[in-house]
Amino acid sequence: MDVQPGRCWCCEKILPEDTAPCDRCPMAVYCCTQCRDRDNVRHSAMECEMFGEKKCSSCSTLGKTRMCSACNSAWYCNADCQRRDFPAHKKTCREILASIKQISSNLSRLKRHGYDDFPEYFGNTMAVDFLQLENNEWSGKSVGKKQLGRDYHVLSAGCGDLCNTVLTAASLPNKYQGKLHVTLNDLDLFVMARNVLFLFMLVRFAETEDIASSLTTIWYSLHISKREYDLIKTSLAELIRMSARQLHDATKGLVSVLDEELGYLRQVWKGWQSLECRRDNRAAINLAQQRKDMFENSDQAIKGSRSKYLACLNANDRKQMEKWFEHGLFLPCEANQRDIPFDNPTLTAIEASKFTAQFGSPQLQPSVLLHDYDLFVYRYLMSPRKTPFAVWDCLRVKEHTSGSHSSWMVMYHKYVTNLMQKFKSFIHEGRLLIRVSLTSCLDFPRHHQSLQMPNYDRIFTSNLADYICFAKLLQIFKPLLKSSNSYSVVVTEIMYFYLNVPDAYPGKTLPEPQRRKLVLDCIQDFPALTPAQIQNKIFDYHNTTSHFLRYLRAEIMAGGFDIPALQDVPSFESVKKCQGMQMRDFQKELNKFVPFQHRWNVRSLTSPPPGCRAVEWLLPKE
Ligand SMILES: C[S@@+](CC[C@H](N)C(=O)[O-])C[C@H]1O[C@@H](n2cnc3c(N)ncnc32)[C@H](O)[C@@H]1O
Ligand SMILES: [Zn+2]
Ligand SMILES: [Zn+2]
Ligand SMILES: [Zn+2]
Ligand SMILES: [Zn+2]
Repeated sequence: MDVQPGRCWCCEKILPEDTAPCDRCPMAVYCCTQCRDRDNVRHSAMECEMFGEKKCSSCSTLGKTRMCSACNSAWYCNADCQRRDFPAHKKTCREILASIKQISSNLSRLKRHGYDDFPEYFGNTMAVDFLQLENNEWSGKSVGKKQLGRDYHVLSAGCGDLCNTVLTAASLPNKYQGKLHVTLNDLDLFVMARNVLFLFMLVRFAETEDIASSLTTIWYSLHISKREYDLIKTSLAELIRMSARQLHDATKGLVSVLDEELGYLRQVWKGWQSLECRRDNRAAINLAQQRKDMFENSDQAIKGSRSKYLACLNANDRKQMEKWFEHGLFLPCEANQRDIPFDNPTLTAIEASKFTAQFGSPQLQPSVLLHDYDLFVYRYLMSPRKTPFAVWDCLRVKEHTSGSHSSWMVMYHKYVTNLMQKFKSFIHEGRLLIRVSLTSCLDFPRHHQSLQMPNYDRIFTSNLADYICFAKLLQIFKPLLKSSNSYSVVVTEIMYFYLNVPDAYPGKTLPEPQRRKLVLDCIQDFPALTPAQIQNKIFDYHNTTSHFLRYLRAEIMAGGFDIPALQDVPSFESVKKCQGMQMRDFQKELNKFVPFQHRWNVRSLTSPPPGCRAVEWLLPKE
């Protein structure tokens, strides 16, 4: 499922009846032969390599082969071929095992921590639909009445902002009639305060014209109109006075928060309420200036990644994005500065590292905040490389806003507003129920008990695997999966695995023949690229599956978070059964929620690290 089922592997449009399949692998299908030809170079370097028939490393026959289970990097027709090749293969095979051990030992020394100075107000990976019923429970059979009306339970651990929840509710098939229960877990107080504020506003102002559009603006825009500012002010004033019970009633059952956690959220709301946001006032927070300073003071890596991003866009897109980086506006149409006289208080927070300096804790401590919050200053705290364009798949945005829009800002605003409208109607029908869990996911199981929530059909752990080892995530979440649903799944994602594996990053360190091949492939498809642009684009031509296998084996070997380290390198087969779960084999293209690997070059504006990988885990079959 690197491309959604039923879509062309090149342009990702819905497939017509007559299709053009790839003749070398069983997976890729195109809408026409032009698309197939256009994708030929990239696809043969990537998916065909991964899913197609393999050449025997001994006799070079193409056909059904078995992988060398020690190194996962050689393929053989049979045991005889393997034995014959062993003297030649031995050295490579051992080197790979040694490299896995080395990665493992580096990983166990690596200090991972979950906090960041920048709250995840915009999200970072591409938004996912948590349910995708048509790929899962509803796939392949006629859907009965009971199926149409059943409820689903989803846990989003390390949820960040609301993008996934909004996309899920907005993507539900019309005939679905059940309710969706979502538990939002994140340890970041500010992110959660913002989520609850937005949910409250959607109910409180459901009758207000254009509330969906206003909320889209408030989500992403540095400056807002008086009307939007007043909506925020009114909501904050009301929220601050509410008990958990009252919040539940005021949102008609949409939002459930424990009283203690509401106390922490209230502090953030008070902080936002107290800010002077009128831009013409000299005492105003002046977000534009703060944002500018933040970028100027950011390190070379951030500046570099922003300019690399810009360099890869076409001239027109680049001009528009430069404008966005300059003004930070996200509005339904081009506007006059006079019409947006307020700073957006919900884009501010307190720096996590300030807490660390003062209280020596690696994470935001709600109880500390509760007592000492006025020691700290609320300021603009968005990572300088964040944009509203990164999480929404730009292919879908184009598809849904076709017509004559001159600007990406207007198109994206329209797209998100449309999702928000659907989200609002779904809420209005009383079919969305949200429970808030403000805690580290490591403590979540204890928390789960007080939430009075059945087990989950889906558990999404965002990119927590960047901070917490896979085995720990599975150990925590396996007992919380709904065992009666064979589609129940834990989804794990990792954004930065490639930084830990030699040669996974196609940068300057890749051995020359390999790098040359990548560059040549890439240039065949994009003849006019500058060297800087190539650096980013070649990710789409670099098949890192075997590197990722090494990483997984090393990572599980390293243990961590009270999971003991292993003496020997675990085989990939045993990794697939980590913590008694059953991994969907991404080498056979079996992921059903998040592609193992996205194609980033077709998604221009959507640009998280191209090395993102997703792994999906099921309960073992009886
Ligand atoms: C990097 S974000 C990704 C969010 C999501 N993928 C998105 O794009 O919107 C990860 C979130 O996990 C949260 N987080 C980090 N460590 C956590 C932990 N141990 N428990 C719960 N949340 C955690 C962070 O506060 C952050 O909001
Ligand atoms: Zn096509
Ligand atoms: Zn193919
Ligand atoms: Zn052979
Ligand atoms: Zn081997």
